[in-house]
Amino acid sequence: MSVLDTFGRPLRDLRISVTDRCNFRCVYCMPKEVFGRDYRFLPRRELLTFEEIERVARVFVDLGVRKLRITGGEPLLRRDLETLVAQLAGLGDLDLTLTTNAALLAQKARVLAEAGLSRVTVSLDSLDDEVFRAMNDVDFPVARVLAGIDAATEAGLPVKVNVVVKRGLNEGSVLDIARRFRGTGHAVRFIEYMDVGATNGWRTDDVVPAAEIVRTIGAEFPLEPVEAGYRGEVAERYRYLDGAGEIGVIASVTQPFCGDCTRARLSADGKLYTCLFAVRGHDLRAVLRAGARDDELDAAIRSVWERRTDRYSELRTEQTAKLRKVEMSFIGG
Ligand code: GTP
Ligand code: 5AD
Ligand code: SF4
Ligand code: SF4
Repeated sequence: MSVLDTFGRPLRDLRISVTDRCNFRCVYCMPKEVFGRDYRFLPRRELLTFEEIERVARVFVDLGVRKLRITGGEPLLRRDLETLVAQLAGLGDLDLTLTTNAALLAQKARVLAEAGLSRVTVSLDSLDDEVFRAMNDVDFPVARVLAGIDAATEAGLPVKVNVVVKRGLNEGSVLDIARRFRGTGHAVRFIEYMDVGATNGWRTDDVVPAAEIVRTIGAEFPLEPVEAGYRGEVAERYRYLDGAGEIGVIASVTQPFCGDCTRARLSADGKLYTCLFAVRGHDLRAVLRAGARDDELDAAIRSVWERRTDRYSELRTEQTAKLRKVEMSFIGG
């Protein structure tokens, strides 16, 4: 059964955050000066258990969700994540994927693949070790991320690479990354730096427009646009004319795609967010822990989605950027 929001958008994707912790402090996401030593993470009892996540996910699947993405913080920090992957893989023929910084991927790729993960998306902002270490701000070497990508590939997992581009920081890495992954079968997606959360100090001037990224890459390796793969696809895709594969750009600032947004987000403590830029979530954990039956859970989710009016990226201004929005590290992008 499907459910539509006030703009007629169906519910198709569920992004599930399994932890609010991260072993990186990416400057565009969780800046150290804000999330310092004393930043308070959720205590364990606040987190949904794997059983609770599975139960909620099952209700979402019954409502029409076809893609489940596990996120964080950094999802591989959640112990025994492969157990959850196996539980979610048992929910049916779904696209079951994971977004990770890959710090722990080399050791986890095989068990995740065996548990039934369909693919992974790795965040990687530069191949230049110095730039990469500065961007993750915990001095993490890029070589270990590349080793994680290799391990995933060897385990048979298709890999996508996400690159957040911030003016003055890693624009110089765009061509390098395109060059490196051409011909590997790994699609790279360049993401416009966004005003997520309330702490990354976002300014319009820091955004490198997707059109500029496409021009930069296209000048060296000619590109042509590819038709969208499905309704609500976030990335605009381009293919190399010489057949070396594809890139994508995610232009949520310069070309918002709210009109087709079919995504719901579940935070690690069980709140349902209907927009990446929401200020507030709906407490599904309370519904679950009050002993709700599946039909009551279904009704709770349905009523949130049916009232949904979100289209933040279409309304964004320097003023809205200052709202106290939920942090990216809390709902996982
Ligand atoms: P694929 O299934 O691999 O095509 O995934 P996807 O495009 O949904 O991918 P992913 O989760 O890798 O998203 C890439 C990035 O796009 C996220 O990390 C966000 O930065 C951004 N993004 C994803 N969904 C939304 C959205 O609903 N709104 C906005 N504004 N940005 C989004
Ligand atoms: N703008 C754009 N993308 C971001 N991500 C995190 N913060 C931002 C931001 N401010 C991306 C990460 C990762 C995904 C979870 O979200 O790079 O790929
Ligand atoms: Fe970086 Fe992702 Fe961690 Fe944010 S959650 S600090 S983007 S690795
Ligand atoms: Fe969807 Fe909100 Fe992103 Fe628009 S800004 S695409 S409504 S998550």
